[in-house]
Amino acid sequence: MSEAKIKISNLHKAFGKKVVLDGVDLEIPKGESLVVIGGSGTGKSVLIKCIQGLLRPDTGSILVDDEEVVGINEKQKEALHSKMGMLFQGGALFDSLSVWENVAFDLIENKKMNKKEAKTEAIRVLRQVGLAPDVADLSPSELSGGMQKRVGLARAIASRPEIIFFDEPTTGLDPIMADVINDLIIESVKGLGATALTITHDMASARKIADRIAMLYKGKIIWQGTVKEMEKTDNAYVCQFINGCSQGPIKVEV
Ligand SMILES: Nc1ncnc2c1ncn2[C@@H]1O[C@H](COP(=O)(O)OP(=O)(O)OP(=O)(O)O)[C@@H](O)[C@H]1O
Ligand SMILES: [Mg+2]
Repeated sequence: MSEAKIKISNLHKAFGKKVVLDGVDLEIPKGESLVVIGGSGTGKSVLIKCIQGLLRPDTGSILVDDEEVVGINEKQKEALHSKMGMLFQGGALFDSLSVWENVAFDLIENKKMNKKEAKTEAIRVLRQVGLAPDVADLSPSELSGGMQKRVGLARAIASRPEIIFFDEPTTGLDPIMADVINDLIIESVKGLGATALTITHDMASARKIADRIAMLYKGKIIWQGTVKEMEKTDNAYVCQFINGCSQGPIKVEV
């Protein structure tokens, strides 16, 4: 295995009495695209927030480039965030800003690029995700869901992050647009040589973009392997999840 970009060991996080992460061990080698699957409420978003230093785990360790994330101060957090990009589930674009200002946000705010340069760069990245320059001056509210995802992706990659998080990148898209976004994700991640962590329920997307898949269940990573290994596994939890069956060891709590 190549060197680890992210190494998570024995991570625990509870909210009050509710145990969410209960000893997560996970390693993402540099340049790998890892997809974490798991039911609603299993703690996938909490896991990402812990890696980003936005939530503090109760115990355990998260190393990014061999440096501990748990317990870092604000200044160290800034340095950590400058390595990271994120595509949010709902796009999470600012409607008060134009499309290009959304894409260039980090370049202007944190990388201190001047506005003119940042706009040129934003338009270049928008082109990369298949959006014409005339989209740059529109408001995100004037775009379709698929276009908003593209803008969200452009924003996630604009500052050339080493690590990119994708939270449900294809939710709410039709299957064809979802596949277009999958292709763009693969292109962008490989183009940057980035390490990617995606969380999704969309198995078509997971199969396409993952080098490796890990399943989170009851606070632990209960299985991991390649897509090929997943198709052949007899792990009952994985089989139930990827086939979307109501019957099986996973009980849906209502
Ligand atoms: N800040 C918080 N305070 C209290 N509880 C929280 C907080 N953040 C998350 N939780 C709880 O942690 C659990 C896991 O939440 P999380 O958002 O990680 O789920 P998820 O796996 O991302 O689900 P989904 O697929 O529906 O997005 C949930 O029960 C949620 O209520
Ligand atoms: Mg979530």
